[in-house]
Amino acid sequence: MSRYAHITGWGMAVPEHVMTNDDLAKMVDTSDEWIRTRTGIRERRIAAPDESTATLAADAAVEALKVAGVRPPDVDLIIVASSSPEHIFPATACLVQDMIGATKAGAFDLSAACTGFIYALNMAAQAIRTGNINTALVIGAETLSRIVNWQDRNTCVLFGDGAGAFVLQASDEPGGVIDAIMHADGSGADVLMLPAGGSKLPTSADTVAHGLHYVHMEGRPVFRFATRVMAEGVTEVLDKAGFPLEKVNLIIPHQANVRILEVAAKRLKLPMDKFVVNLDKYGNTSTASIPIAATEAANSGRLRPGDYVVFVGFGGGLTWGALLAQWTGPLPERPEISPERYRLWAKVRSAGLRLKRKVMSKVSSSENMGG
Ligand code: UT7
Repeated sequence: MSRYAHITGWGMAVPEHVMTNDDLAKMVDTSDEWIRTRTGIRERRIAAPDESTATLAADAAVEALKVAGVRPPDVDLIIVASSSPEHIFPATACLVQDMIGATKAGAFDLSAACTGFIYALNMAAQAIRTGNINTALVIGAETLSRIVNWQDRNTCVLFGDGAGAFVLQASDEPGGVIDAIMHADGSGADVLMLPAGGSKLPTSADTVAHGLHYVHMEGRPVFRFATRVMAEGVTEVLDKAGFPLEKVNLIIPHQANVRILEVAAKRLKLPMDKFVVNLDKYGNTSTASIPIAATEAANSGRLRPGDYVVFVGFGGGLTWGALLAQWTGPLPERPEISPERYRLWAKVRSAGLRLKRKVMSKVSSSENMGG
């Protein structure tokens, strides 16, 4: 019998603090007019000091689990796609696993820059289809405000913080993720990157002095690349699935620049109202932009059960990808659950495990010393 990977839950979390274009104009030599006309962005959200990529991810995850009616201990796999993970390692996904009480889940991060959510969704869907797992949590989460240079007007006006999450569940009923394409061109690695802080250029006083710990982007080549692959990606995934463009109800693209979306729409000969656009409110939230846009579309009734939707994105790597799905919504046997209660319990459990680890290491070190 065939197995299908359905998107049964969705959620988002954005920081409360809104930074407008006018706020930015007080920090760098820019203007609301320039940012709006060149990008379509009006404002973005900025994380508070006590928020991080993992806390935003966990908040979005809890919302998605609630929509799906899935208890955290029933999650088999957590994938966090992020361009601003909490650490190089451990994976942000492990921190989320601990925070939400997903006690049985495997957890890893996926690095494909802004295309990460599409890659992660495809990987989770494959794991479900093969029968390896039943339930996955796929998250895109960012605190890009921590890695952009607030004195560089070429980049700081573009990005924002936030997280979005999907729950994927196995079902024998046809629907859910239908097909996907994933591509990369590493010859373009240098046009969009975080130069330092990895093993090639470890953080040092010198890398900090030269600002190499901030996002570096050459806007024009990225723009040219993006306008090409957005339309190509949609066409390629539809050709691969043998699915006609006319039957697609909605396109949910990576939210980087409205001009990129307008070129893609023109190339695909589609009206702009086929595209979900919310970058005016959040800027470019990298891996989080697609699940945030999908969550808003689903919650407002613009994306309905049975609709055919194409997710399409591009980003550093360079990478690009597209995924065709039939939107289903929660499975019929959805129970009422309260993931917040698991979260509270997870906090106590985590503190207990940390304490136990401390005690055990004290005991074993005194044993080793013959005590
Ligand atoms: O998730 C993937 C991430 N990246 C992207 O998708 C970015 C793709 N690229 C873009 O969206 C656009 O290239 C940008 C929005 C980044 C830039 O727009 P552009 O129309 O390509 O502008 P430009 O880089 O060609 O710069 C035009 C002018 C320059 O001044 P001069 O040399 O003509 O005097 C820039 O210095 O605009 C200037 N400029 C600004 N002016 C005011 C650049 N940034 C700003 C700014 N405010 N924030």
